[in-house]
Amino acid sequence: MAFAARIMGTGSAFPQRSVSNDELARKMAQFGVETNDLWIRERTGIRERRITDPDNGAETNSSLGAEAARHALAMAGKSAGDIDLIVYATCTPDTIIPSTACWLQQKLGADRAWAMDINAACSGFVYGIVTGEQFIKSGQARTVLVVGAEVLSPFLNWRDRASCILFGDGAGAAVLGQVPDYSSQRILTSHLLSNGALNGLFLIPAGGSKLEVTPERFHQNLHKIQMNGREIFKVAVRTLVECALRALEQNQMTAADLDWFVPHQANFRIIEAVADRLSFPMDRVLLNVDRFGNTSAATIPTVLDEALREGQIKPGQTILFDAFGAGLTAGSVLLRW
Ligand code: ACO
Repeated sequence: MAFAARIMGTGSAFPQRSVSNDELARKMAQFGVETNDLWIRERTGIRERRITDPDNGAETNSSLGAEAARHALAMAGKSAGDIDLIVYATCTPDTIIPSTACWLQQKLGADRAWAMDINAACSGFVYGIVTGEQFIKSGQARTVLVVGAEVLSPFLNWRDRASCILFGDGAGAAVLGQVPDYSSQRILTSHLLSNGALNGLFLIPAGGSKLEVTPERFHQNLHKIQMNGREIFKVAVRTLVECALRALEQNQMTAADLDWFVPHQANFRIIEAVADRLSFPMDRVLLNVDRFGNTSAATIPTVLDEALREGQIKPGQTILFDAFGAGLTAGSVLLRW
């Protein structure tokens, strides 16, 4: 029999501490940097974000991932022992070695699973879903846990007002299950793309094997995020539109056939520009960027989870995930719920 994959359950988790724009502006003033709530809201749509407490061991990337995963397993009616494969999408791992997927496996007690990280930055969850789907289709796995989680706050440069205002910490998870390929409720198609030539648009230069963090590089903040915001904005709109159109065209659909559009939550204005170019109404675009900022690989699973738990998404509805991120990476997944 031929197989397909279906999302059976979702979950999310955020650090306790919420930081408003005003609070952030006060923190940045300590570094001699000026910003304000009005500028952040008008340029990004962000009002607040969650930031982990570095002294709270329960707020590591894998701890948040584990909490999100437990919620997703409960919704799917599965236990940790059912998981065959854990795909953990993150660019802010607990440790470089071992993988965050292995930290998570231990926390969940998912003893049967094999576990791996993937790094596609903000496109990570979409890459993770597509990866998990391949193992389900091939019959090598029946239940796959896909986590998209980030703790970006340690990598923010509080002196760079264009970037540090954008990001937050959080985790989302989805349980993929195996269904017959004729099932109406399944992942329909996916498209992934990367363009390594654009690697300089969003970068953490030091801390990998290429550039060790020396005291001098530390003082230059080379272990923190460097971003070309204006250029990313243009590339993001173009790429998100391209990925969405590829998904629609392959399924002989138009935007009018979609019930929900679930874009990566980087900036409200980017989402608005994409929806406008696709002629898609904003009241059917799922949003949480206002409350959580850009949580990178966690944006799509967390906003999806919220809509599911609030009963917005109904069985049989058609949903499009659409992501872009550092790399450049991008991708879309079209599915029927
Ligand atoms: N507060 C006050 N003023 C600011 C701030 C701030 N936080 N940040 C920048 N400004 C100033 C600039 O200095 C500039 O001043 P100037 O006109 O005197 O030179 C002015 O505001 C306008 O700056 P722009 O860069 O043109 O502002 P823009 O409208 O492009 O917004 C932003 C900047 C928010 C960064 C936007 O370009 C953006 O969101 N880009 C996409 C970023 C992104 O998505 N990054 C993550 C992608 S990769 C991934 O997801 C992992």
